[in-house]
Amino acid sequence: MGAGIAEVLARGGLAVVGIEVNREALERGRGNLESSTGRAVKRGKLTEDAQHEILGRITLSTDFADLGDCDLVIEAVPERLDLKRTVFAELDRVCRDDAVLATNTSSLSVTDIAVTTGRPTKIVGVHFFNPAPVMKLVEVIGTVLTEPESVARVADLVKGLGKTPVTIGDRAGFVANRLLFGYLNQAAAMLETGHATRDDIDAAMKAGAGLPMGPFTLMDLIGLDTCLEVLEAIFAESRDRRHAASPLLRELVTAGLLGRKTGRGFYTYDKSAPAAEAAREPGGAAPTVGVVGVGPLADAVAALCDRAGARVGDSAADLAGCDLIIEAAEDPEAARALLSAAVQAAKPGTVIAVTSVDGSAIRQAMATGRPSDVVGLHLPDPAGALAEMSATVATDPDVADRAAALLGRLGLTVARCRDRAGFIVDALRLPYLNDAAAMLGAGYADADSIDAAMTLGCGYPTGPVADLDRIGPDRAVAVLRALHAEIRDPALAPAPLLVEHATAGKPLR
Ligand SMILES: NC(=O)c1ccc[n+]([C@@H]2O[C@H](COP(=O)([O-])OP(=O)(O)OC[C@H]3O[C@@H](n4cnc5c(N)ncnc54)[C@H](O)[C@@H]3O)[C@@H](O)[C@H]2O)c1
Repeated sequence: MGAGIAEVLARGGLAVVGIEVNREALERGRGNLESSTGRAVKRGKLTEDAQHEILGRITLSTDFADLGDCDLVIEAVPERLDLKRTVFAELDRVCRDDAVLATNTSSLSVTDIAVTTGRPTKIVGVHFFNPAPVMKLVEVIGTVLTEPESVARVADLVKGLGKTPVTIGDRAGFVANRLLFGYLNQAAAMLETGHATRDDIDAAMKAGAGLPMGPFTLMDLIGLDTCLEVLEAIFAESRDRRHAASPLLRELVTAGLLGRKTGRGFYTYDKSAPAAEAAREPGGAAPTVGVVGVGPLADAVAALCDRAGARVGDSAADLAGCDLIIEAAEDPEAARALLSAAVQAAKPGTVIAVTSVDGSAIRQAMATGRPSDVVGLHLPDPAGALAEMSATVATDPDVADRAAALLGRLGLTVARCRDRAGFIVDALRLPYLNDAAAMLGAGYADADSIDAAMTLGCGYPTGPVADLDRIGPDRAVAVLRALHAEIRDPALAPAPLLVEHATAGKPLR
């Protein structure tokens, strides 16, 4: 991170002094700077002259005394409080009295670092994201001790470097990690409890939530040791059990399986093996589908069947010949009535998929009198390619396999899970969105800052406040209530601000 930050500052035209612990580390840092700017030259993003200018602005040293003239020092040593405090004591000694001292810590308390220095008013957090030259977000943290001018100076500098500063207070995980790691840990817990497989969870979050990568791919990329470290810091402050690191994550870290950097984490990275392909259901001719229910969901299901070239019908005669009946009624009572009529018409062996409104399929399945033939179905975006499919304890395993194959023949990517509220996507996405609403409600950060943190810091296509307004606060509250009713975790109760907006029928922004 230190080399990346030095590059950003030098690219912004500033003179930089880079300090390392010894000559060997200094040479490694020099190598990082040369190769990073060299790659930019190769890609045609930087001329060779500009590269020389940038590198010429950076002086490398192992002597802290060389920092004596600096206006701002950014510390990026390993994430250990004792080490950071030692470094800050040294900085305090060698730096000018008016110099601002910043830490790039991801998860330690900036206040914990500030209180042991002789200049707590001039200590700020400046949290760059990796890789620093590429990522646009920088979280700028002021503690209760920091003077506002120091925070403003750093935020202005960050803006001048072409980055987007988000200025916030000193809370574990700040905005981006606080929101991201609750979600990542919950994905690990979902795997651990057998709710769904690693591949189904990753595929569902990519295809159903539009994320650039699934949670296990992302954790392996970040490094599982770092994930554990960040979660422990957040849990120490939040005491929210959703931040208590999943035992599976802890086990992998203890085993030294840290993700990409060690060749194995949630996935195994074997350079000689071909890249893993997402599991696809076998193709085949489009099935004959019966759609029961009226309303937008039923229309969307009929449209997707049409697109796949499937024959669709809803009369008793049609239903009698169907491979698959999809219940897509808008309310549970209507769904149960329609289903029992449809099931009577259906031939033995027809697979019945229920799009349960309240999140679990078993009640509808029991109402059919043929629960072994029933699976749950959720289309996070009816115009999209993902189908989440749940099997209940009563579903015949062979029926679940046939249901997945039939949905695959409708051109859908199928993510399978157990019969729990929210399937995969909503069960992971809504608690994250709720955390964002709670953060907004608590006044920790404003809507623009929260959205910027997730889009610019984590590469999310849209921010959580925008997501909530797209989904609708009322629907978000309904799904959260279903999740809360099932799991009874207090953190899943909809945030008061969200409930207020849902009641008022008013978007958050
Ligand atoms: N890696 C990330 O993705 C990331 C992202 C944001 C923030 N951070 C934070 O940035 C900081 C550094 O993380 P990293 O991943 O670059 O760690 P790293 O271990 O890769 O690099 C730390 C560097 O600090 C040097 N160092 C150690 N002791 C020193 C001392 N006394 N004086 C000067 N240099 C010293 C080491 O030689 C090493 O080069 C941590 O606080 C981390 O939480 C990391």
